[in-house]
Amino acid sequence: MKKSLISRFKNKDAVVGIVGLGYVGLPLAIRYAEAGFKVLGFDIDESKIESIATSQSYIEHIPSSKIELSVKNGFEATTDFSQVVEADTLIFCLPTPLNKYREPDLSFVTDTIDEIVPYLRKGHILSLESTTYPGTTEELLLPRAESTGLKVGEDIFLVYSPEREDPGNPNFETRTIPKIVGGYTEACLEVGTALYESAIDQVVPVSSTKAAEMTKLLENIHRAVNIGLVNEMKIVADRMGIDIHEVIRAASTKPFGFTPFYPGPGLGGHCIPIDPFYLTWKAREYGLNTRFIELAGEVNINMPRWVVIKTMDSLNELGKSINGAKILVLGIAYKKNVDDVRESPAIEMMNLLQEKGAEVHYSDPHVPVFPRIRKYYFDLSSVELTAEVLSHYDVLLLATDHDKFDFDFIQKHAELIVDTRGVYTTTMEKIIKA
Ligand SMILES: NC(=O)c1ccc[n+]([C@@H]2O[C@H](COP(=O)([O-])OP(=O)(O)OC[C@H]3O[C@@H](n4cnc5c(N)ncnc54)[C@H](O)[C@@H]3O)[C@@H](O)[C@H]2O)c1
Repeated sequence: MKKSLISRFKNKDAVVGIVGLGYVGLPLAIRYAEAGFKVLGFDIDESKIESIATSQSYIEHIPSSKIELSVKNGFEATTDFSQVVEADTLIFCLPTPLNKYREPDLSFVTDTIDEIVPYLRKGHILSLESTTYPGTTEELLLPRAESTGLKVGEDIFLVYSPEREDPGNPNFETRTIPKIVGGYTEACLEVGTALYESAIDQVVPVSSTKAAEMTKLLENIHRAVNIGLVNEMKIVADRMGIDIHEVIRAASTKPFGFTPFYPGPGLGGHCIPIDPFYLTWKAREYGLNTRFIELAGEVNINMPRWVVIKTMDSLNELGKSINGAKILVLGIAYKKNVDDVRESPAIEMMNLLQEKGAEVHYSDPHVPVFPRIRKYYFDLSSVELTAEVLSHYDVLLLATDHDKFDFDFIQKHAELIVDTRGVYTTTMEKIIKA
């Protein structure tokens, strides 16, 4: 079984099933189609299936032409899970959020696997890519896979391989980002390595699914903690009248031992604000507290509020109140040059400002209409930036530094700019760094 599966991936005559066609699943499906595989995509969202059938992209940085080419090469998508029998591998790219108590919510993964268990057969490879705590594959996938009577490592293969993506970064693509793979048994690892080597340039095997799960968490915790550190440094520097961005630029000239991280209005996206708490939760089972994670979380979670207070103080200095102030938030995506607003601190700030009585609008070239998200809703569309529009606002709150913004033009027509990204290097009265 193992040998024939490996050779089917080498010969590219295996069928690759991708379950969950979002930010992670769609590019992966496209990559396997490019690599010459027949790809079957599964999602519960009918609109995504329809978009793929008509070759319309629903993710800004993925051009429709790539979907069109993949569809021509045999990429199909469906909501019908009984078709999983046709796939040789099922790669799960499902959401792993936190619940309202900030605990892991693995229901998307477990519900989906429960739904496909009746269709599992000999020769299936199950690979989980969703970010999660160490032990998930063994604790949640293994018993479900074995409930079929199939033997893991002999009949069916279990793998964990975390996704690494940096949306909007043109220097990397799915093929060129090294892929970590852990298997439940040695045979699982061999099969998993063959699965990923058939589409990704470099595969990095590790000794267990747990080690692979922990690797992904280390990467994201490393980011969250360092961003927390630099956000704390920003608050101290601000009080001391020092520009933290100037300090980071200077420190970055050190050719060893220093990696720059940049402060901002808080953490955003599906990963960095969420993933570290998967480890925090699991560590408690072992009687351990993850103090760095908690501390960084505390600093980062408070950043939107800190920026709002800076904005209030800046208005106050001009004899204005936040109540009734007209505020335009520039950029609501969680980071530059993407259209993803999940967990975006810009939206948190919009909410805080509105609670204090400000009249809030936004401008974001990547988000034309305020999207439906879980926590907040604003009945707003992106405002076009003309000279007249810019000068109408008491404050322009620069939350996300998209390249599409014309920062000189913005500066020229602004009354007051609160810059949370260090875009403006000049010291000018109307620019407040926050
Ligand atoms: N977005 C990133 O940059 C990124 C990077 C690395 C890792 N991750 C991790 O990858 C995982 C997926 O993230 P994402 O950003 O792709 O999420 P996403 O929300 O963009 O995509 C998830 C997809 O799963 C679908 N789905 C939900 N329930 C389903 C079900 N029962 N059956 C089939 N499909 C279902 C949704 O409709 C959606 O299309 C998460 O664990 C995330 O932490 C994301």
